[in-house]
Amino acid sequence: MLGRLNHVAIAVPDLQAAIKKYKLVLGAKVSAPQALPEHGVTVVFVEVENTKTELLEPLGDKSPIAAFLENNPSGGMHHMCYEVDDIIAARDRLKEDGVRVLGDGDPKIGAHGKPVLFLHPKDFDGALIELEQV
Ligand code: CO
Repeated sequence: MLGRLNHVAIAVPDLQAAIKKYKLVLGAKVSAPQALPEHGVTVVFVEVENTKTELLEPLGDKSPIAAFLENNPSGGMHHMCYEVDDIIAARDRLKEDGVRVLGDGDPKIGAHGKPVLFLHPKDFDGALIELEQV
């Protein structure tokens, strides 16, 4: 079911400060900030040769990462995203296996303009997993 690792995401309290660090300290290539109101986050992608790091900052007052940042005020690893060929087939199979899909269970359009879903971290050893159809 799982394809490539698309990205690892880090929730950050201050996106501009994080961008600066990645650009100036690590010398990384960082994409322009993208506001995703439907997901309650603003994101950038740090591009490296074999994958990406997503830096997430809360957007709006109902951001799903607000509670995470309250518990981790200096930021922290938030999720990893695996690629799948068919997100509906993947979702249906996971649900049959008792995995909880977050939200209403229907894919939303993610930062790359492609459908994404999140799986309950309690079903995967405390790790939040995002699936993206590529
Ligand atoms: Co992501």
